[in-house]
Amino acid sequence: MRIVLAPMEGVVDHTLRDMLTRQGGLDRCVTEFVRVTDRCLPARVFYRFCPELHHGGKTPSGVPVYIQLLGGQPEAMAQNALRAASLGAPGIDINFGCPAKCVNRRDGGSVLLKEPRRLYDIVSAVRAVVDPAIPVSAKIRLGFDDSSLFTEIVQAIVAAGANELTVHARTRQDGYKPPAYWHRIAPLQAQCPIPIIANGEIWSVTDARQCLAESGCEDLMLGRGLLTRPDLALLIKQSLLNNSAENTEAVDILGWQGVLDMLTDFCVVTEQMYEARYVGNRVKQWLGYLRGYYPDAAQLFEQIKRLHCPQEIAQMIERQRHTNMARTAA
Ligand SMILES: Cc1cc2nc3c(=O)[nH]c(=O)nc-3n(C[C@H](O)[C@H](O)[C@H](O)COP(=O)(O)O)c2cc1C
Repeated sequence: MRIVLAPMEGVVDHTLRDMLTRQGGLDRCVTEFVRVTDRCLPARVFYRFCPELHHGGKTPSGVPVYIQLLGGQPEAMAQNALRAASLGAPGIDINFGCPAKCVNRRDGGSVLLKEPRRLYDIVSAVRAVVDPAIPVSAKIRLGFDDSSLFTEIVQAIVAAGANELTVHARTRQDGYKPPAYWHRIAPLQAQCPIPIIANGEIWSVTDARQCLAESGCEDLMLGRGLLTRPDLALLIKQSLLNNSAENTEAVDILGWQGVLDMLTDFCVVTEQMYEARYVGNRVKQWLGYLRGYYPDAAQLFEQIKRLHCPQEIAQMIERQRHTNMARTAA
């Protein structure tokens, strides 16, 4: 099985991709979406979204990063895919799932799910220009208002020559409201000639097992669950590999100390990449996810939430690291 790190605009940039792929268990990442209108974007835009292009399109741990494009015009999408591929992107992903009103109003993201013919036109235009050795994948939801077009959507994307498909198992109407309807993927997956990657609401090993069983898929994409538990991909793989029925939920590979080490590194790399005023927000944003699993993260969040200076935030994390180290040694 393969596990893909979900694209998350404004959250999962290359610094987080680095942190998360270091933990192991991930086979691929996808960039935040690159918005395509009617022109070919300059190379610098692709390097900004995917600095990994400077290193063969892989994270420092060697995990490939696909570039995700979002737009409604086949020709412009094709030209930008070609450019991304020529810069060394190991794969191109096309976003047909974004629910944001501002994006949908401008003919991009999930609104295109209403017109399977247009999905076909976009995917086939991209597939036609990109070297066949470079995979082209699409990321969809079950539909826009409902899932009545789901079969046609999948058929259109397959017929257009996509190599893989990720399904976020909810409609645009469902937004991010639990549950995810993994079982809806199963009938399509059974006949689909290309791999389908199941996505949505996987927060634990139990969820992963249930999603695989209900969807019939072999591959998963993890978003918020992995930000909340950075060792989740590794845990899922270990659990499936050993076919261990024992209580895997109790296993904590990384531990709070490991998370504090990651946060320390994250402060350093984020400071190198972003203006000082943005650093604090990025650390707080990730801690916001981490506190969903680690009780100590909630406490640390309270301690830094009013701090703005990156050095003060880093010091606070460093203090926690020492306290926690002493606590575990005692
Ligand atoms: C803050 C945020 C930003 C997102 N940005 C993108 C994006 O740029 N491209 C995309 O295809 N999906 C995006 N998504 C959707 C995720 O990739 C994923 O499909 C969704 O979060 C469900 O998976 P999860 O339950 O594992 O988080 C985003 C989701 C969130 C919460």
